[in-house]
Amino acid sequence: MASTFYILLLFCCNIVFLISPSIAKTSFRPKALVLPVTKDAATNQYVTQLHQRTPSVPVKLTVDLGGHFLWVDCNDNYVSSTYKPARCRTTPCSLADTSVCGVCNGDQSPGCNNNTCIQNPFNSIFGSSTTAEVAQDVISIQSLTVDGSKPGKVVSKPNFVFSCSGLASLTAGLASGVKGIAGLGRTKIGLPSQFSSAFSFPNKFAICLSPSTTSNGVIFLGDSPYVLLPAIDISKKLMYTPLIKNPITQAPTFFGHESSGEYFIRVRSIKINGKAVPLNTSLLSIDREGNGGTKISTVNPYTVLETTIYNAFLSTFDKQVRSATKVAPVAPFGLCYDSKSFGNTRVGLGVPSIDLVLQNKKVVWKIFGANSMVQVSNKVVCLGFVDGGQEVNRVPRAFIIIGGHQLEDNLLQFDLPKSRLGFSSSLLFSQTTCANFNF
Ligand SMILES: *[C@@H]1O[C@H](CO)[C@@H](O)[C@H](O)[C@H]1NC(C)=O
Ligand SMILES: *[C@@H]1O[C@H](CO)[C@@H](O)[C@H](O)[C@H]1NC(C)=O
Repeated sequence: MASTFYILLLFCCNIVFLISPSIAKTSFRPKALVLPVTKDAATNQYVTQLHQRTPSVPVKLTVDLGGHFLWVDCNDNYVSSTYKPARCRTTPCSLADTSVCGVCNGDQSPGCNNNTCIQNPFNSIFGSSTTAEVAQDVISIQSLTVDGSKPGKVVSKPNFVFSCSGLASLTAGLASGVKGIAGLGRTKIGLPSQFSSAFSFPNKFAICLSPSTTSNGVIFLGDSPYVLLPAIDISKKLMYTPLIKNPITQAPTFFGHESSGEYFIRVRSIKINGKAVPLNTSLLSIDREGNGGTKISTVNPYTVLETTIYNAFLSTFDKQVRSATKVAPVAPFGLCYDSKSFGNTRVGLGVPSIDLVLQNKKVVWKIFGANSMVQVSNKVVCLGFVDGGQEVNRVPRAFIIIGGHQLEDNLLQFDLPKSRLGFSSSLLFSQTTCANFNF
């Protein structure tokens, strides 16, 4: 018995030995990927760049954290020998969750083919939408070195599923040079899911947005380490809170009540300098129509609060800075001060900290001056939150939308299998910034 076992073992290991070196040579499998993100000065949009098509061309895209998929303006000279329209009832259509089959009356071209499934690309900046064919093409992207410190080899993903819009005006409102939207949402064809299944790495990703309009922030697709200069693994700084699914999407869809790919968290209360903001807590939960709750958004430049929350928030903040000199508000903000009222700290102006209290009193997302205040001129600083109104202008909607200014120089990691958000609070405490990835 013993000798038979020994022989089998040898046999098996020889085979493994013969096969593995050739696999190693032919296929490089990245552990994670990395994308640069720049803040567009004119629009405050966060813009990234992918390479798509054959021959490969750079494509600039606005980043929409909750966007359901990648869509590209195909009206703008889309040329590629690897372009494939998704024929009705094939796998890309089921991944895209659409069984609607389309015809196109124009000349056959990328974005205009018969017998393809169609979906609704959504311009979340402008609020516009259209119907467009589902398609596939190759995308190339930089990998992240195993130590998480810099970009590695460029890797390609053939047959990446996206939406190819034939409507030129769908890019209205997007930053100059931008040709579509990169959706990082929680769907089967969101960028994180497609790349994680293509390269078999965990379905986690992280965003680190920079306030700078001249240096790059970074998106990591895949797991940590995420290392910024000077050699700091910022993934070590994370606290965690559950991600919540909203059963109803805000994006237009064929079937109405479809669940949202956006990322919601549970804020239980807001404190300023430790004082609770008095608010109707039922607004903090998502109701049956999908209204309410707190979502995280990269397409809102500042955090948006429903009117009653906003008013209570401003008055609580103002009471906590009694000695500051108030000045006339500068739109879109409602509360502004003479900037000489506040000193400077490592984490921005020395103002009371704003605490978003999450699943329990110990889990708190703290917002300091660099993320709460906006310098609107040499002399004036404003509380960087805006009034979302009481009227429901787009149904359903969140009553707290944590926007870009409050996310900058914070690391946020979205762990989809565990359905949790890791958040770092201000990286300025760690003496680094989101512009410090070694691109
Ligand atoms: C699609 O089919 C219609 C009618 O069958 C035809 O008129 C049209 O030219 C076709 N379009 C393309 C892009 O092939
Ligand atoms: C709190 O908000 C809910 C949902 O909008 C509303 O039905 C309720 O009347 C509000 N309660 C108070 C005390 O304003």
